[in-house]
Amino acid sequence: MTQPFDFDQIVDRHGSDSLKWGIYPPEILPMWVADMDFTSPPEVLTALHQRIDHGVFGYALATQKVTDSVVNWLQQRYDWTIDPQWLVWLPGLVPALHAACLSYTEADQEVVTFSPVYPPFLSAPKTCQRPHRDIPLTRDHGRYTFDLQRFDDQLTDKSRLLLLCHPHNPVGRAFEKQELTALAEQCIKHNLIICSDEIHCDLVLNHTRHIPFACLSEEIAQRTVTLMSAAKTFNIAGLNCGFAIIPNPTLRRQFNHAAQGMIPHPNALGYTATQAAFTQAEPWRQALLEYLRGNRDYLLKEINQRLPMLTMEPVEATYLAWINVSALEDYRPAFFEQAGLGFSAGEPFGDNRFMRLNFGCPRSTLEEAMLRLEQAISPR
Ligand SMILES: Cc1ncc(COP(=O)(O)O)c(C=O)c1O
Repeated sequence: MTQPFDFDQIVDRHGSDSLKWGIYPPEILPMWVADMDFTSPPEVLTALHQRIDHGVFGYALATQKVTDSVVNWLQQRYDWTIDPQWLVWLPGLVPALHAACLSYTEADQEVVTFSPVYPPFLSAPKTCQRPHRDIPLTRDHGRYTFDLQRFDDQLTDKSRLLLLCHPHNPVGRAFEKQELTALAEQCIKHNLIICSDEIHCDLVLNHTRHIPFACLSEEIAQRTVTLMSAAKTFNIAGLNCGFAIIPNPTLRRQFNHAAQGMIPHPNALGYTATQAAFTQAEPWRQALLEYLRGNRDYLLKEINQRLPMLTMEPVEATYLAWINVSALEDYRPAFFEQAGLGFSAGEPFGDNRFMRLNFGCPRSTLEEAMLRLEQAISPR
């Protein structure tokens, strides 16, 4: 039986500690940073209340229970059997992207990315003072995919680490097995280590199954660091808890060495929430996916019918829409802000012709956003 979860309910985040809402004045509807305007699953809230009632918040460690919750989740969801020893707990995945750059490349070795992509992928190599080679995604039948010919042509013996976003933020692709396998072959050919950020893997909206990159073969598992977290799916990003899965002991040791003293332990409440989410909140997740599919379909229809000067990429995963706004006379972020809309500008992702819209919100919020957008851009 489906549980009655109310994703239509408006939770007022004004005046809370919300980054998404806090940077704008009240007249702007924020639809940028990737968290959702929904309360977390009731089971997660109950577990957090119990943990708070305990009253002592000293340094935390990953208990057997939270470790088991991850192991079982990966087994059930992805048929991926992991050894608990492969787990490295993290307070966030962005620090892990940086630790990967530092651990797996020498100063003259290249970090490779596919753009457009979540901005820290593009900034991490620079921050870590590593050369960066970007291979733009290409189009196949109207969908973004890897340009493996260009990848093969442009990589050199200095290319060492691929930062892969899978599923992909912002283009919304849930990559298919044959695309992943072809990419994996290239990674082996060029002797790359892969850091596969799979934070959105539990948010696949089309009815396909996510394939962790490390599951493609044993050879790939041995050269892949997978980053995951319950943060996006269960809306607990502010609780700072995620993990890396690193089957290869040498890669694990190198990663831990780079993280030592730099990357703190996860938050105690983050462990609690992660465990409750992975063990009790699957019905909530299923209901969420259904709601997000409805939001995505509504958005697509609105854009096709009411706002045909915009084009939206097919969203196969995530709650983020990547929208081409370049047909508008003015598509600077300030233009949308004047219309009362706080979108993510495309430029930091590597393509300023687009903007990213976060539809992880009640339908009525999305409807209001479409109204404002129409009023701002339709000829009067
Ligand atoms: C692909 C990707 N990786 C990482 C993050 C952020 O992860 P964290 O908050 O764990 O650092 C995001 C957030 O939007 C993301 O989209």
